[in-house]
Amino acid sequence: MDLTINGRTVSATPAGDVTLLDFLRDTLALTGTKRVCDRGECGACTVLLDGAPTYSCLTLVNGCAGRAVETIEGLGTTEAPHALQRAFVAEDAAQCGFCTPGQLMAAAALLARNPDPSEQEVAHALSGNLCRCGTYPKIVRAVRRAAAGR
Ligand code: FES
Ligand code: FES
Repeated sequence: MDLTINGRTVSATPAGDVTLLDFLRDTLALTGTKRVCDRGECGACTVLLDGAPTYSCLTLVNGCAGRAVETIEGLGTTEAPHALQRAFVAEDAAQCGFCTPGQLMAAAALLARNPDPSEQEVAHALSGNLCRCGTYPKIVRAVRRAAAGR
């Protein structure tokens, strides 16, 4: 099967029970996508599948044939961070950072469909991404900061 990951075509023959999360982390060494609950409850493993936020721990990689996956590694780089990544730093929106890649991917999907979200719209869009450190107010401010281009 072929799928596209961060704009590059990847060919693989994974076993039928391999999740997209396992494939990204263990086969491709794309470890920016985090495994926390591993059962669809926290959102730490969120990637974009054809542009939609998706829990990769609940997604079989075989079901991604012909589809486009975007991970945190494709969002920005250390040298050229995405506006959302710059805003998360500016607003100090990460503490332990385990939830941050998933938060960023969900936020990227939000800004792609709504470039000027309200606080309520940000909170709703990120409601599937839990933060045990409780930085929610800073995360919302960071997403709105990125949207405003600051
Ligand atoms: S690790 Fe996938 S939802 Fe928690
Ligand atoms: S920053 Fe620690 S879980 Fe969100």
